[in-house]
Amino acid sequence: MRVLITGGAGYLGTHTLLQVLAAGHEVCVFDNLSNSSPEGMERVKALSNRTFEFRNTDLRDRESLIERTKDFAPDAVIHFAGLKAVGESVEKPLEYYENNVQGTINLLYAMEAANCQNIVFSSSATVYGDPDFLPITEDHPLRSTNPYGRSKLHIEEMLRDLAASKPEFTAAILRYFNPVGAHKSGQIGEDPMGIPNNLMPMIAQVAVGRREVVKVFGNDYDTPDGTGVRDYIHVNDLARAHVAALDWTQDHKGARAFNLGVGQGVSVLEMIEAFAKASGRDIPFEIAARRAGDIASCYADPTRARAELGWSAELGLDEMCASSWNWQDSNPRGYEPDA
Ligand code: UD1
Repeated sequence: MRVLITGGAGYLGTHTLLQVLAAGHEVCVFDNLSNSSPEGMERVKALSNRTFEFRNTDLRDRESLIERTKDFAPDAVIHFAGLKAVGESVEKPLEYYENNVQGTINLLYAMEAANCQNIVFSSSATVYGDPDFLPITEDHPLRSTNPYGRSKLHIEEMLRDLAASKPEFTAAILRYFNPVGAHKSGQIGEDPMGIPNNLMPMIAQVAVGRREVVKVFGNDYDTPDGTGVRDYIHVNDLARAHVAALDWTQDHKGARAFNLGVGQGVSVLEMIEAFAKASGRDIPFEIAARRAGDIASCYADPTRARAELGWSAELGLDEMCASSWNWQDSNPRGYEPDA
């Protein structure tokens, strides 16, 4: 299959790119490199022993998007490109709607122009908001509490509306829980710019000595140890789900959502402990105030993905921590060359 991957230079993008290449597909990556480095893609080339096309493309530029999409003529699109920091989205809502929602509208027009009917979309468990019940099934009510979450929800709704209007259109909507870990080579991994927002890169940077202490955002939640509980999923399991979703688009029609999680909750303190064990490093932490907008617990019921995509997560917490540490320890400054 000819597969266009938007946002293919990022953390989830590079890991997925590697597996899509390994599955034998022809790939073109569109990325504007606003939150990623071209070095990640170079490493994917070396790891996969394959090449792929890359176009420095911004989804906000509809004309060039249409031209380049027609040029590559994809059979399917995996759509990662977008902004993803919750706090920033509250500060700059229009940028989130412009990049995420308008960018996706442009992409859908470009797909139409290129006669491509299949999309695999990067959604998020954030569309469930503060959950009414656990584990969360795909039928859980959808809501969002910030512009980032609303941008994901708007895109999901557009995909469902488009599928209702075009019988030949197929959208696999993948709702990610908390992706962590790295490829086992230690060559690619998560490389956040600035201070990490998310727990795992923060722990990894403390372990490697780049930052001093992990702030634990609240220990008075209604959870077994009082800290937030999440469903962490290894990025390679997540990447593999995209290959399964691509296959799914080939013999299904309509828009369908799938939870991508392990189905088990892990607390902040459990994660710090597991990472300390995997890395053999001390991870200093201190209890801090709750972070605005955080919820106590969130974990998936991944039954639908197993039943309909034939996919389930295989890698556990030890592999998540060990691979993340391997990446961080071999690349203390991420893709930045050593000073
Ligand atoms: C966050 C986003 C979510 C997004 C996902 C992936 C928020 C509210 N949610 O999920 O919309 O899809 O990232 O980008 O930002 N924690 C600490 N100390 C830290 C960082 C985090 O204690 O320095 C805690 C949090 O309170 C939470 C857990 O670790 O209990 C996980 O946090 P994080 O990795 O940021 O993910 P989410 O908040 O679940």
